[in-house]
Amino acid sequence: MFPERRLRRLRRRGIRELLSEVHLSKTDLVYPIFIDENIRERVPIATMPGQYRYPVDEVSAVAERISATGVGALLLFGIPACKDAVASSAFSPDGVIQQAIPRIKEAVPEMVVITDVCGCEYTDHGHCGIIGDTPHGRDLLNDPSLELMGKIAVSHANQGADIVAPSCMLDGMVAVIRRSLDRAGHQETLIMSYSTKFASSFYGPFRSAAHSSAVFGDRTTYQLNPANAREAFRESEIDMAEGADILMVKPAGMFLDILAEVVSLGLPVAAYQVSGEYAMIRAAAAQGWIDEKSAIMESLICMKRAGADLIITYFAEEVAGWL
Ligand code: PBG
Repeated sequence: MFPERRLRRLRRRGIRELLSEVHLSKTDLVYPIFIDENIRERVPIATMPGQYRYPVDEVSAVAERISATGVGALLLFGIPACKDAVASSAFSPDGVIQQAIPRIKEAVPEMVVITDVCGCEYTDHGHCGIIGDTPHGRDLLNDPSLELMGKIAVSHANQGADIVAPSCMLDGMVAVIRRSLDRAGHQETLIMSYSTKFASSFYGPFRSAAHSSAVFGDRTTYQLNPANAREAFRESEIDMAEGADILMVKPAGMFLDILAEVVSLGLPVAAYQVSGEYAMIRAAAAQGWIDEKSAIMESLICMKRAGADLIITYFAEEVAGWL
């Protein structure tokens, strides 16, 4: 006890760095980008200062730019020219993501390409799959939407996606996607499941960027209740059993307790720092209320401390420049 024991000895400059339990490295980072079929030039995203929607023609340049920073993986979101009730443009061979993948691979062959597998950007109603009437009202239909997810995943893998990432929170989505990929000869394609995804207000800036808000209702009948830790753990456990290669907790920042538990399952785990977490830091820093760089680094190192193997963050490019 004091006076012999003095933990402040551990925090002297130099010693402190030497004793850091976790470190952030560029190779942990995944950079999400928005690719918009409707534009000819990049458009700044108002709700996410510093981020853009890119035309398909610009994705090779973006891939080269990101690769030059040392970040080795991109997560692709598409904004299609046409939406309909059944998300047809999400699995069309000439859809926006299907056009983008080969361009990225041609420009930077070693870039790991991860694709979001979901319907919400491609449906006119904004829900993540097929909707219909249920005994509880109009809602996302689980089983009828599964085949759609399989088709989207296969269409991405056909174009060269390395990892498909289903984010629709349907029961059985990982099993169906694994089976569909294997049948199509894509045994090597990984599945990174958005396994533990909460119904969160922090997706707001993304939804305005990706034009993916639901036109009726909300996503609370498929995304998790933020109050539920045990159910959140079971979601990841089940996706592991269905064959997920990588699990995910999203949003990450407010759910680090969940992240630490999911890490105990033994699979690689991704932390997704979502658009609202990004926007909050940007907004407070723009006011001069917090120091931007240290707030960003702290937000990410805490995800590493909780056990994340990879971190999906809109700050990836900037952070790589600092590391
Ligand atoms: C669904 C999807 C969403 C995000 C990633 N994939 C939105 C949602 O579930 O409504 C949110 C990501 C973010 O907020 O950064 N395709």
